[in-house]
Amino acid sequence: MKHIVSIEDLDKKSIMGILKRAKELLPVAKGNKKSKTLDGKILATCFFEPSTRTRLSFESAMQRLGGSCIGFADPSATSHLKGETLSDAIRMVAGYSDAVVLRHPREGSAKLASEVSDVPIINGGDGAGQHPTQTLLDLFTIKEEVGKLEGLKVGMLGDLRYGRTVHSLSQALDRFKTRFFFISPESLSMPEHVTDELENKWSTHETLNKILGKLDVLYVTRIQKERFPDIEDYKKVAGAYKIDAELLRNAKSKLKILHPLPRVSEISTDVDDTKHAAYFRQAFNGVPVRMALLEKLIRGNK
Ligand code: CP
Repeated sequence: MKHIVSIEDLDKKSIMGILKRAKELLPVAKGNKKSKTLDGKILATCFFEPSTRTRLSFESAMQRLGGSCIGFADPSATSHLKGETLSDAIRMVAGYSDAVVLRHPREGSAKLASEVSDVPIINGGDGAGQHPTQTLLDLFTIKEEVGKLEGLKVGMLGDLRYGRTVHSLSQALDRFKTRFFFISPESLSMPEHVTDELENKWSTHETLNKILGKLDVLYVTRIQKERFPDIEDYKKVAGAYKIDAELLRNAKSKLKILHPLPRVSEISTDVDDTKHAAYFRQAFNGVPVRMALLEKLIRGNK
């Protein structure tokens, strides 16, 4: 039994094994083939913060593998409202299930849960910390769309400070000889605890124009309004960048644009029908990738 609190919990070999199994599971994820590999198993989804993709793709993944789901998307309908601690709640839920997906606004919550749980804890996003299963589906998408993971030039644009997906993804891509370009307003730059650990070359930029033509992948994120301690600081950077089809005329023809979604206004809808847009396929890839991860965590290597 292993918890997935951070992407660092998986070595490169394990990541590649999950991506390989996810590819095999694509027909099951699409509903074209049946599987019973998790028959009789129960996944608990405990979401203390809003989610569309993470929760629903985990539930779809579990049910496509013959398992079932329990859980909640509204913590105000649980005993959280009566003052129950996260530790106590997780101890209970672990007794009702074979694995738990936890999303929580507090950084470190998944680590705390892993310390009291008898079943695998999967971090579905902890504040501005990590989102490791998003990273797995991001890697799967890059591999499928670009054809490889090694040696790519990757731009990350947007809220690199509070956006947890870019923290996990930078750590993971660093194992694949990635050249990083971090593009953000200065107040939203990538935290030092991430950049200090990078072994590959990285640089920071306040605008995209001069580097767009070099990139193989552009990973765009939303400004995380809900994480700003002062709304006035959010207003200073809201709408600071926007990708549209006109801007992409300066991009490589094979550039792929990813976004963990939801988007607000940072990618214009006129990008959706271009050859660059990969973000809706990326969101679907959450199903096969999470299937592969659930099999690994719940069944081991059987
Ligand atoms: N990408 C992602 O985590 O989306 P949700 O917040 O909808 O789960």
